[in-house]
Amino acid sequence: MISGILHITPNSEILAREVAFFLRERILAGLKQKERFSISLSGGNTPRMLYRLLASEPFLSSIPWNQLDFFWGDERCVPPDHPDSDYLMAKEAFLETVTRNWNPGIYRIEAELPPAEAALRYEETLRAYFANKPLGFDLLLLGMGEDGHTASLFPFTRALEEPQRWVVDNYVPKLQAWRITLTAHFLNQARTTVILVSGHSKQKVFSAIQAPDASPLEFPVLSIQPENGELHWFVDEDVINGDAKS
Ligand code: 6PG
Repeated sequence: MISGILHITPNSEILAREVAFFLRERILAGLKQKERFSISLSGGNTPRMLYRLLASEPFLSSIPWNQLDFFWGDERCVPPDHPDSDYLMAKEAFLETVTRNWNPGIYRIEAELPPAEAALRYEETLRAYFANKPLGFDLLLLGMGEDGHTASLFPFTRALEEPQRWVVDNYVPKLQAWRITLTAHFLNQARTTVILVSGHSKQKVFSAIQAPDASPLEFPVLSIQPENGELHWFVDEDVINGDAKS
């Protein structure tokens, strides 16, 4: 069963726009209370439209990009210039545009390293960053796969059982690949979590996770239960009814 606030938009374009305005509002509000604002990015295809929008007006000139610190919720175990890299997708979609004139905090997962080492190093990075700050991202962006995974927390994988670590290397049998992922334990420290779901292909799984007995082991996105933060689902009509309105 999902919890949180559900925002439904007519289509994917309006979804991206609504999320962009929501992010800007949260960033500007957050920076009234603090100098730096931490945002964890999601990979995959869904956020690409959002990221490109953020690199355009009115967002490009109205968000104080040099006060943001960027993190990732997960990464594929590839170099940063590999086409599968979540870092590369975000860099090309908006980071290289919004950071053109200065170098904000970009905390990339060094997923080109051996998986276990990459996970340990990113955990060190996070622990150093949050050593003198309230624990948890100010804003966390996540997606959801057709199997109900989020970040790289895939169904029935070891990462789901991790009670203490913030970052783990996670072997995904269905992909026959290693991933680096932040754990639900750490992700749930975020103050605002946004889960983006778009497209007809997600209708079945979005319906399945509404079941009262749906399990986080089978649908890891259900393990996203912010401990003290807000959870916002942004989904389009295609996910709800299977046919988006143009
Ligand atoms: C990744 C993401 C992953 C993604 C989902 C949904 O590295 O791929 O972190 O969790 O959010 O797989 O991906 P789509 O947006 O492409 O459907």
